[in-house]
Order: sequence, then structure tokens, then C-alpha cells
Amino acid sequence: MTGRKSGPKREQILEALRDVQDPELHRSIVELNMVREIAVEDGRVAVEVLLTISGCPLRETIAQAVTERLRAIPGVSEVDVRLGVMDQEQRQALIRQLHGGGLPAAMDGATPPSRTQGLLAVGSTTRVIAIASGKGGVGKSTVTANLAVAMALEGRRVGVIDADIYGFSIPRMLGVTGRPTAIDQMLIPLESDGIRVMSIGFLLPDESAAVVWRGPMLHRALVTFISEVHWGDDLEYLLIDLPPGTGDVSLTIAQTLPRASMLTVTTPQPAAVSVAERAAKMAELVNMEVIGVVENMSGFTPAPGAPTVDLFGRGGGARLAEILGVPLLGEIPFDVTLREGGDIGLPTVKAYPDCPASRALREVARRVVARLPVAILGS
Ligand SMILES: Nc1ncnc2c1ncn2[C@@H]1O[C@H](COP(=O)(O)OP(=O)(O)O)[C@@H](O)[C@H]1O
Ligand SMILES: [Mg+2]
Repeated sequence: MTGRKSGPKREQILEALRDVQDPELHRSIVELNMVREIAVEDGRVAVEVLLTISGCPLRETIAQAVTERLRAIPGVSEVDVRLGVMDQEQRQALIRQLHGGGLPAAMDGATPPSRTQGLLAVGSTTRVIAIASGKGGVGKSTVTANLAVAMALEGRRVGVIDADIYGFSIPRMLGVTGRPTAIDQMLIPLESDGIRVMSIGFLLPDESAAVVWRGPMLHRALVTFISEVHWGDDLEYLLIDLPPGTGDVSLTIAQTLPRASMLTVTTPQPAAVSVAERAAKMAELVNMEVIGVVENMSGFTPAPGAPTVDLFGRGGGARLAEILGVPLLGEIPFDVTLREGGDIGLPTVKAYPDCPASRALREVARRVVARLPVAILGS
């Protein structure tokens, strides 16, 4: 409802607010129809912005951004921003819009609903990469977390799904805690350094809580993380940290996201190579493309210039890459800061971007991006 004629026009106000984004949804508040009442009287502008939920943790951020944009319009002397809350119907309309007119939740784990937007959309430009290995403890989660940071440092928009439901470790490694905002049945991922993250760890009462679930529930949790989390259409890369082993989870991913690729992590040890090979064969069976191999825990250099010690043998990564006929994307040296950083939520790539392990991980990130380029969406 536009007020008197003097002062800026309604269109001018909406235009000024167009690039204010909802910080959680990563979409323009104008596009999301969150700017409602607009009243203009002389130089005084009053607007109402409807938030998705009353406890919106970022309400002040939105109010401040709106105030700043309105003040910058020539002729505006006074700004009054009121924050309201959407009712259920308005929220459902917003969720439908975010899902591109999709259907309600696929919580029963059945075939996910068809959508025109989101990860499940035929036209989704998000590149999905599952990080796999045959067995635990080879550094899958460490590689996933640091790769996400490295990609974000390169300016890529990255998300991480922690698909290791029993042994989730991504929240701790990336230093993300908290509970995801739920807008009705849609979950908003938590964010750390711009990386969007979802883990079962965010939904449990505390970090030590045990998950005792059967296979179908794991499947359902993963499908929910893929289809009911608002990853945002601007997400360029989604890394999925798989649990150790092969089987079930890869199958769920392959069925839900038919265009997902796989990155295989191994240590230099021959024994690790044969299990990693099994994981890659599994990928082949479910039609997932393996884009490359990362060798982790390669040589350890106790001090600068000292001879390198091959703690876990040698050459496993190169051998696996050869067997699979894919490139070896990097060899990550054994580095104590990778473990320490993982324990305190400070990824090495962020803390020491120039140490040898970080350089190797950043090179892996560049190669993955080169292998799986995304359309530049403009910013
Ligand atoms: N390159 C490395 N150098 C030193 N420690 C590492 C390295 N990679 C992983 N770690 C440590 O090894 C342990 C297992 O790594 P993790 O990423 O949890 O493996 P996975 O996810 O495959 O089970 C963790 O304590 C981690 O900090
Ligand atoms: Mg792990």
C-alpha cells in the first residue's frame, strides 16, 4: 500500500531492497515476498518485513540492511522498519516457492518428490561429490572438511552433508554447533565461514548421544538431508562425507542424486588400496562416476628439511588411481595440525593455508573444480 505521492515510489523502494538477502535462505527478500506494507509520507518511509519464524536469529541483520538501503534512497529522511512474522499459509507459500512448486516432505523415504528447484531438480547446477573409502580412519572426514574450506577460499559456494550418521564428525571438525532453523518441514543448514553444513549431530541432544537406527532410518535421514534441507539454488558444490564401507549409503545417494560423483580416499598402504577399490567398484555398480583418488597420510616430515618417513607405506594412491583409470588428485602428507585442527574445529587449510598439507588439499580442490566446473551464476 503506497502512501502519498511525494517521496520515493513503491517500485523504487522494492528496487533498493532487491539485493537485501535473507541471510539463511540466500535469496532476495523482495523475491521471497517478505517486504509487505510500504508507506511513504514525504521523506518518511515505513516498511514491514515478514520473517519466516518469530525467533529468526538474524532478524537484526535483516532490519539493519533494510534500513541502510532505504536511507540511501535520495529524498528519504526517516526510515521505520517493522519486523513481522509470516503465518503458516505464508510460510507454506514461501517453501513452495523455494522448492519450485514442489510437493510436501518426502519423510517416508519413498521416491523423493519431483521438483523444479533444489538439488533434486533436473536443472540443478550443484555438483555433488561423495567422499568415500573402504574403511574408517583413513581421513575421509578430514579431507572433506578441509576440501570444503579450500573450495570456499577459492570463492566457491559449498555445502557439506555429514552422511556418517553413527560416527558423525563434521560438526566438530568444522567447528559448527547449534540447531538448524526449521521453517515448518524445511531445515536451514548451519553455516561456518560460508560453508553450509548439515549433520545428524545438530539434531541430537548432545555430541555423545548414540544413534541406534536400522538401515531404513539411515536412508530416510540421508534423503531428508538431501531433499528437505534448503541448500539454496546458488550452491555450487555439495560434499557428502560417507560412512566407512560401501553399500547402503552410496546406493541411497546414487538413487536420490543420479548425477553425483565420487572421490576416493586411501592411505598409501596396499591393504587400504584394496578396500578403497571395493568402494570404487560399488560406485561403478550404482553408476556413480569416480573423479579421482586422494592419498592421505602420505609421508611424514618430522622437521623442515628432515627426511620424510613413510608411516603408512608408499604409493597406494597412485596404484589405486591406476587400477581405476582415474587421476590421482593429491597426496596429503601426515600432518599433526590436521588432527589437532580436526579436534578443535579449526581446519588446517584455514589455520595454516601455506603448510604442505594445506597446499596439497588446496590443489585437490582446484583440480576437483577444474574437473567439475560449474556455470558461473554471476554474483
Ligand atoms: N593427513 C593426516 N595427518 C595427520 N592426521 C590425520 C590426517 N588425516 C586424518 N588424520 C587424523 O586421523 C584420524 C581419522 O581421520 P578421519 O578424517 O576421522 O577419518 P575417516 O573419516 O576416514 O574415518 C583423525 O583423528 C584425523 O584427525
Ligand atoms: Mg569420518
